[in-house]
Amino acid sequence: MSHTTPKIIIAIDGYSSSGKSTMARELASKIGYRYVDSGAMYRAVTLFALRNHLIADDGSIDKETLIKELPSIKIDFKVDGDKQLTTLNGEVVEKEIRGMIVSSHVSPIAAIPEVRHRLVQLQQQFGRERGIVMDGRDIGSTVFPDAELKIFVDASPEKRAMRRLKELTDKGVETSYEAVLANVVERDHIDRTRAESPLRKVDDAVVIDNSDMTHDEQNKLLLDLYNQIINRLG
Ligand code: DC
Repeated sequence: MSHTTPKIIIAIDGYSSSGKSTMARELASKIGYRYVDSGAMYRAVTLFALRNHLIADDGSIDKETLIKELPSIKIDFKVDGDKQLTTLNGEVVEKEIRGMIVSSHVSPIAAIPEVRHRLVQLQQQFGRERGIVMDGRDIGSTVFPDAELKIFVDASPEKRAMRRLKELTDKGVETSYEAVLANVVERDHIDRTRAESPLRKVDDAVVIDNSDMTHDEQNKLLLDLYNQIINRLG
């Protein structure tokens, strides 16, 4: 009798710079699942808004026009080796969506209910056939409340600020630890307190605090959790 491994949905939520994207990407690659970075989708909508002059110099957003344009915004991912490149209306925008300009405007865009509604629909389509690892802020709570494995990644603000500082310094961006820590704390506050789908740990999520864990320890723990679920289902 042939036996196929069941395909599940793995939702990984957590704070910014908690290392969740790396964990999610590496797990997906190890178990042959699709990886979707939901934050990249909010970033792509932000880039669309910037390019179409829907964000003024003072940061105010022309929400009405953006909401009207939402059905015409196509966001997808192109697989390139072990990389996932975000596309906006067919154009690879991976590099632009990681830049400082998009980063500084994405929070208010991600707080618009209509934007969230549209992206959640798209994210759910990506997971229709299961066999997916998705990371974000509301994956276990809103996008896939029925995910078989939910992870909430935590790490102290200080550890996350150190990681972010290294990322920025590696990219040649000059900044200080104090400035990065202040930004991490501010982003945590915005993520936790926004009205629409705030970041929160759902009751059935497993918490991984990786403040003092090595990369390998994290990967092993995640893989063990995945195997436990598969064994239970199989
Ligand atoms: O994870 P990131 O920094 O790329 O996320 C970019 C922004 O999108 C950040 O402001 C949080 C928001 N976001 C969200 O609101 N919901 C998600 N599922 C993913 C990201």
